[in-house]
Amino acid sequence: MTQSATTTDTVLSVRDLTVDFPTGDGVVHAVRGVSYDLRPGEVLGIVGESGSGKSVTSMAVMGLLPKTARTSGSVRFRDEELLGLTDKEMTRVRGSKIAMIFQDPMTSLNPVYKIGFQLAEAVLAHNDVSKQAANKRAIELLEMVNIPQPDRRVEQYPHEFSGGMRQRVVIAIAMANNPDVIIADEPTTALDVTVQAQVLESLRAAQRETGAAMVLITHDLGVVAGQADRVLVMYAGKPVEIGTVEDIYYNPRMPYTLGLLGSLPRLDKRDQQRLTPIHGSPPSLVNLPPGCPFTPRCPLAAAVCQAREPDLEPVDGSGFTAAGLRIHLSACHFKEQVARHDPADLFATSASDAELPADFGSGPGLVEPPLEDDGSEDELR
Ligand SMILES: Nc1ncnc2c1ncn2[C@@H]1O[C@H](COP(=O)(O)OP(=O)(O)OP(=O)(O)O)[C@@H](O)[C@H]1O
Ligand code: SF4
Ligand SMILES: [Mg+2]
Repeated sequence: MTQSATTTDTVLSVRDLTVDFPTGDGVVHAVRGVSYDLRPGEVLGIVGESGSGKSVTSMAVMGLLPKTARTSGSVRFRDEELLGLTDKEMTRVRGSKIAMIFQDPMTSLNPVYKIGFQLAEAVLAHNDVSKQAANKRAIELLEMVNIPQPDRRVEQYPHEFSGGMRQRVVIAIAMANNPDVIIADEPTTALDVTVQAQVLESLRAAQRETGAAMVLITHDLGVVAGQADRVLVMYAGKPVEIGTVEDIYYNPRMPYTLGLLGSLPRLDKRDQQRLTPIHGSPPSLVNLPPGCPFTPRCPLAAAVCQAREPDLEPVDGSGFTAAGLRIHLSACHFKEQVARHDPADLFATSASDAELPADFGSGPGLVEPPLEDDGSEDELR
């Protein structure tokens, strides 16, 4: 892809990352060429539907993939290549350099140990300090994520905390060793809507205070709007658009991004907004046909889309990064024409209007787009 140069102030650099899983049904091409750079303190949102490869990409960065996975490409943390490191070598990186926050806080917390003990353990894992100093740091960390009465709370167990507070403890553990990069995979998806905003605020506050860069993974473009500097949109294991938050929200150049925006309630369009879901499902990642994987669902699809998968390329008028790279890229044969469309109008046209051969993309799991909107196909969670 176009963004191939790394800069000295890049903290994490992912290049042409692929991940395959051999299975009884064939090889699942879960990640098919992901590249991005993360600068210190920057927040990159990664957005896409379920199964688009967001988590597998991050697990590859963290060295947490199952042994059966086959990877290629490069993951560099500053000057060190991480892909191919042994589990023991990755233990040195995890937590102290790159920390991960998962969707369910109970995957990171042990129910039988007190909160303070678990925080102190995280501190002691990478620092040669006394137990007393680690306990003091545990209280400071709880304070940083806005847990009231932290000196009392460290004496409690996870079950005595609400779901939102537990996730804030997980954030505090992730921050324990001042990591340079935090990867937060759907950190608020398991929480009630009312506490999601508070937890996101705690996450952002902790990220700002430590100066860490962050990859924020979500299926919801609404979540990244207030949090991210740049957004990477994934579809069928690949980035299909990347740009600043403004690029993605106000000048999207890939029909799938328009589809995501069309499914999103917008406060700035309260009067005449229509929500227009994207019909159909993503393709199977086992037997992907040669063209653009979005073809069966895309209202702009044409013959060239079935023939050749578009590369991720700069859009006309894109700005430049400090390193002279183009910021706004899209993988669409018609990326310049997309600029003329409004999400509601584009996806009000059924994708089945596009004339496609009946067998296009007929891999396992592929659902043909419905002819009419019967209200049952809202694929976006
Ligand atoms: N161990 C595995 N073996 C085989 N296939 C896998 C394995 N892990 C993930 N996959 C497949 O890889 C693809 C990408 O999965 P991934 O978990 O990255 O999706 P995601 O974008 O994080 O989705 P979600 O929003 O549901 O979390 C999916 O098709 C998934 O079924
Ligand atoms: S390449 Fe074709 S099918 Fe793919 S998003 Fe662009 S117009 Fe749609
Ligand atoms: Mg996931």
